[in-house]
Amino acid sequence: MKLLTLTLITAFISITSQNIMAQDAKRGATLYKTCVQCHGEDGMGDPSQQAPKIAGQYDWYIISTIKLFKEGTDRKNPKMLPFIKDLSDQDIADLAAYVSQMK
Ligand code: HEC
Repeated sequence: MKLLTLTLITAFISITSQNIMAQDAKRGATLYKTCVQCHGEDGMGDPSQQAPKIAGQYDWYIISTIKLFKEGTDRKNPKMLPFIKDLSDQDIADLAAYVSQMK
């Protein structure tokens, strides 16, 4: 019984830590659908929206930038804010994983 409990606990920990740590680019691809209208399907940006190219950007840069926009003190962007204000840290990490691997 003890062994079973231990096995279950170990399995549980490895599953949850995976969920917390791993950046899920597939989930990021789904989340990215809301960004397409400005940054483009391929992340190349859109001059008419003054939206910069973000494809292939480092994931740490994307994560820290989105968080800055979310806080709205150092970087402000009223146009993008509605699309990012409700993203969780996990959402942002997944988005960054997806965007950083775009060519
Ligand atoms: C309504 C248009 C719009 C939408 C939708 C939008 N963005 Fe943006 N985004 C912009 C604009 C405009 C900028 C440039 C703002 C600035 O630098 O002040 C920007 C900047 C960025 C930057 C910083 C780029 C850099 O080089 O500094 C990142 C990263 C980014 N957006 C990611 C996203 C993600 C991820 C989404 C979807 C969740 C998204 N954006 C949705 C318009 C948009």
